[in-house]
Amino acid sequence: MNLGSALGYMMAQAANTTSWWKPIQASAHAGAVDTLFNFIMYLCFFFFVLIVGAMVYFIVKYRRKGNGPERTSPIKGNHTLEIVWSVIPGILLVLIFAWGFKDWLAIAVVPANAMEVRVSGQKWNWTFTYPKEGIVSADLVVPAGQPVKLVMTSKDVLHSFYIPDFRIKRDVVPGKYSVLWFEPSEEATHQIYCTEYCGTEHSNMLSKVKVVSSAKYEEWLANGGDEDGGTPVPLADKGKKLYEQRGCVACHSIDGTNKVGPTWKGLYGSARKFTDGTSLAAADENYIRESILVPNAKIVAGYAGVMPSYQGQLNDKQLESIIEYIKTLK
Ligand code: CUA
Repeated sequence: MNLGSALGYMMAQAANTTSWWKPIQASAHAGAVDTLFNFIMYLCFFFFVLIVGAMVYFIVKYRRKGNGPERTSPIKGNHTLEIVWSVIPGILLVLIFAWGFKDWLAIAVVPANAMEVRVSGQKWNWTFTYPKEGIVSADLVVPAGQPVKLVMTSKDVLHSFYIPDFRIKRDVVPGKYSVLWFEPSEEATHQIYCTEYCGTEHSNMLSKVKVVSSAKYEEWLANGGDEDGGTPVPLADKGKKLYEQRGCVACHSIDGTNKVGPTWKGLYGSARKFTDGTSLAAADENYIRESILVPNAKIVAGYAGVMPSYQGQLNDKQLESIIEYIKTLK
């Protein structure tokens, strides 16, 4: 976690929890994880006070008094003491291991009735695919009380999927799948973080998990994962939402400042110069569409070709919405 995401995390916690100390417990795992955490913490606290207290006591008690040659008599060893300080931590270690292993098993073994969602990480956003319905979403929408299995992979570099409120976290690795599961307890919205440094916009690699009632979830599925619930929305408004949700915001500003990628302000209709020496008199729909689907076909001079392709992740309506949104940014 870098400073940006750490601060973001703390602010989000301050906003949606009643406790300054730990995130809210919002999954079936959370209670058990916290109990073990508390046990280890209080155990450490107890021994810290005991050991440091004894140390301070001995420092004072056996300090050199006066200038005389008096010395503490040498201690050669004490078997009873040595056995006690080896056996007690030994027992505690075995206890912590057994306890941790039991909890780890519960987190590692996915229940048979879990519904499956595919998670794809890429610089710098998360995408959720519902394999049965073919829905692609920028937010993870799940029904409360339903175990959910996440099958996760990365398109580029190492990321890490983290939902503090659920007490779950796992690395998301290119070229392989990692699995994670959770059972959300109540209807609420929780923050998802990337917690493995993955480049400039790592701290903005955020998403939300929306826990809804099963009726609302069914409705969401029926609408093809459309947040608007099927009611018509101006394409530009939809495009603005996609800009924020799909990670465009991480690299493209809308106020004219240049980030990792060129700004969207005034983009439509502007002249473009590319790294290969070619140019375009006026950026049009075709150019924007190509830039989203095949970003490396034309790279604007002065930028590195780092944008990932959104092929297969945005449907035609979504592409048009983004284009319409860009047109409004004059
Ligand atoms: Cu992805 Cu950090």
